Formats: sequence, C-alpha cells, structure tokens
Amino acid sequence: MSDRTSLMIVLAAGEGTRMKSATPKVLHEVAGRPLVAHAVAAALAAGADRLAVVVGPGREDVAKAVSKLAPHVTVFTQGERLGTAHAVLAARAALSEPADDVIVLYGDTPLVRPETLKRVRAEIASGSDVVVLGFNAENPMGYGRLLIEDGKLVAIREERDATPEEKAVRWCNSGIMGFAGGNVLSLLDSIGNANTKGEYYLTDAVENAASCGLKARVVAGEEEEFRGVNDRAQLADCEAIWQARRRREVLTAGVTLIAPDTVFFSYDTEIAPDVVIEPNVVFGPGVRIESWARIRAFSHVEGAVVRSGALVGPYARLRPGADIGREAHIGNFVEVKNGLIEAGAKVNHLSYIGDARVGAKTNIGAGTITCNYDGFGKYRTDIGANAFIGSNSALVAPVTIGDGAYVGTGSVITEDVPAEALAIARGRQVVKPERATELKARMKANAGK
Ligand code: UD1
Ligand code: CA
Repeated sequence: MSDRTSLMIVLAAGEGTRMKSATPKVLHEVAGRPLVAHAVAAALAAGADRLAVVVGPGREDVAKAVSKLAPHVTVFTQGERLGTAHAVLAARAALSEPADDVIVLYGDTPLVRPETLKRVRAEIASGSDVVVLGFNAENPMGYGRLLIEDGKLVAIREERDATPEEKAVRWCNSGIMGFAGGNVLSLLDSIGNANTKGEYYLTDAVENAASCGLKARVVAGEEEEFRGVNDRAQLADCEAIWQARRRREVLTAGVTLIAPDTVFFSYDTEIAPDVVIEPNVVFGPGVRIESWARIRAFSHVEGAVVRSGALVGPYARLRPGADIGREAHIGNFVEVKNGLIEAGAKVNHLSYIGDARVGAKTNIGAGTITCNYDGFGKYRTDIGANAFIGSNSALVAPVTIGDGAYVGTGSVITEDVPAEALAIARGRQVVKPERATELKARMKANAGK
C-alpha cells in the first residue's frame, strides 16, 4: 500500500457545548495530549501523505495545536456548521489534488488505531469506492445505522431519520469513512440536505454511491475504538480505555507493573523491558525509563530520563530536565528539576535539586536544597564527583563545589568550594555548663509576676 497516496481529513469543527468549557472540545486531553492530536497521530501512522484538519471559525488555537504535531498539515475553516459532508467539503482545495484514497475521521475520537485506518485503505485499494468503518453497538442509540440489503451496504440512516425497524438495527457507523480518491469530490457534491436536521450528511455518500453504480463496503471494528467525547464523563471514559490499553502493551513489552490499574502513562512514555514500576506512579509527558530502573510507589515523573539501574522514589518528583544517571538513587520527598544526577550519585531524602549537576557517586545529605531562584533569576549549582554534602545544607546558586569536596551539615554555602576542600558555614556551637538551670529558674520567676 506504500505506493498509494492518501489524504486524511480530520473534522474538528464541533461545538462541544456539553464540555462546559472555555477550551474547545478537541483540545481537551487524553493521556496528556489533545484529542485532535490523537486523531492526527493515528492518521499519520496509517500513512497519510497529506493531512487536512477542518476547524470552526476563529479556532487558531486548534490550528496551532495541530501544526505543532504535524507541520505539513493544512487547516481549513468551516464557516457555518452545516453537517459532516459540508465540513469535509471545507477542505475542497485538498480534495482537488489527486489521492488514491481519502479518509475522513473525527477530532473527538481519540482511540482509533492506525491499523484500523489501514484496513479501510486496503479495502479501497481492492476496489471499493466508499468504505464505512462499522461496529456492532451494544446500544445503537444516536448512531447512524448501516442498512444492508442482499449483503450489500445500501444506506446509512441517522437516528433522527430512522423508522422504528431501522432503529432496531445495531450495526452502526463509527463516523470514519474512506473514499476512492477519483470520485470523492463528485460524490460529496451530490449530497443534499433533505433530512430532519437540514444538514449535509457525509453518510449520504453511501446511498448516492449505490445509485451511480459505485461500490460501498463496511469494514468492521471494535466499538471501543470509536468512542467519542462529548462531555467530561466520556473524556474520562476514553482516558480509562487508553490507559488500560497502554498498561497491557507495557506489560507485554516486558515491564513489571505491580498494580497496573494504579499506574498512569502519557501518550509518549517510553519504558524499556525489565523496568519495575511500583503502585501509584504517574507519568507526565516526555519520560524515558531505561532497563533495570525501578520507580517506587507514589512517584510523579515528567520530562525526565531515568537511566539503567537507577532507583527513584518512593514519593519522588522528577520534573522536566531531570536526568537520573545509571545506578543513581533518588529517594523519598526528593524533587529534581533540570538536574543531572550522574551515575551512582545519591539524593535520598527530602531534597530539592534544581538547575544543577550532581557528580558521579556524590552523596547529598537529607534536606539539602539548591537555592536556584532569588525571586528574579535562576542560577546553577555545579557539584563535582565523589563530594559529600552534609544534611540540611543550602547551596546558594550560582555556586560550584569541586570533586571530593566536603560540606559540613547545616551549611549555607554562598561561595565556591574547591575540590577536596572542607567547607563549614554555620554558627559555631557554644556550650555553657549549668546555664540551663539558671535560665529556667529566671523564666519561672518571670512567669509568676
Ligand atoms: C455522525 C454520523 C453518524 C455516526 C456518528 C458516529 C453523520 C451525518 N452522522 O453523527 O452516522 O454514527 O457520527 O459518532 O455524519 N462536524 C463538523 N462540522 C459539521 C458537523 C459535524 O466539523 O458541520 C464534526 C463534529 O465536530 C464531529 C463530527 O463531525 O467531530 C461528527 O459530527 P456530529 O454532529 O457529532 O455527528 P453525529 O450526529 O454524532
Ligand atoms: Ca457525535
């Protein structure tokens, strides 16, 4: 099929009023990326050579989100919402250039698999003119019904226009349709709006195809793949299905998830085989975990690389730019942001490491903070290899601590510490014998006055 060219059109001009949101529906996210981006990604993975997205008027935000993912996408605006066929025709300029197949999908249907779109393409390649992706609905209410006569698809009837007998049909239109590129424009132009809603229905392409001797076929898929999002509950349903699917893939790929249902992935999370993920871990976008690493319970990881054999958590937070080296340890209540933790280094308890490097095998004591922000600018802390930072130290950036240096507990380090030097920056301890007894007596007397 690689020699065949494909134009894919994503319809994203929906109103989405049931979302009750200031954000357009297709920009709401599943697995950390907008709904429309899921559709676009599926289209690209199914081999779209050209990609068009149809948005509503004034939806530059949708256009921008889409171009970020697929720079070569063409965005069209549907001025008035006059139906799905009308929406596809908003991309007339794209349709006028030749393509072997044209696939129409919806921007609010994020679970469609590329393989399913490829099956639609294959059906067109083997001679069908119109292909409808259909499924057997548990509850067909609201879907267009696929009407079959003598084994042939003859029409799609929308719920509103259906007779009681037609409504009983459970064989439904997913909304995804494919067309042979040669006659798609004339077919779309032949669609009228004589129906209850007065809209131009893309689905009428089936009936019109039959009347001009073109072949219409159904390709069957799973209902789950065609789940659409109209409200927040359906958004949550899609998220749940997406996560369940990904967990299964990750397990199959050789990753241990101790309690799969409690681990949440992003659309782009990369996890190598032989990683162990403990319960209640959440991955934000941009994460890569290498083999033999272990992410312990209740950690939140985003924009980070965790290298082979590293140990993260429990209760760790890795933020964008965290790079945890081989065999390094990040322990409980430790936050790392834009920080390179080199091989074998340990930051085990209650620390913040931001805009910093921690050299190989260095030990950062409990409660150490890199003070990277003065309220105006951000500054770097550079700590060499084999250093030791005593507990509860504050490293005031910009500051450099050399290889093998030793910082005494409770220090506030404001000046560079050379390699192998010892730095102690805290008040000297004073011990006054018997003074506690005197002090207490005085305070007791004062309290009586
Ligand atoms: C549509 C199908 C129906 C199918 C169902 C699957 C038609 C006529 N009906 O019905 O057979 O079972 O999807 O979910 O196609 N859109 C625009 N511009 C418009 C109208 C719609 O961009 O003028 C977009 C919407 O944003 C949405 C999609 O097209 O993403 C479907 O539109 P919608 O009105 O929800 O169609 P349904 O009635 O659900
Ligand atoms: Ca719909």
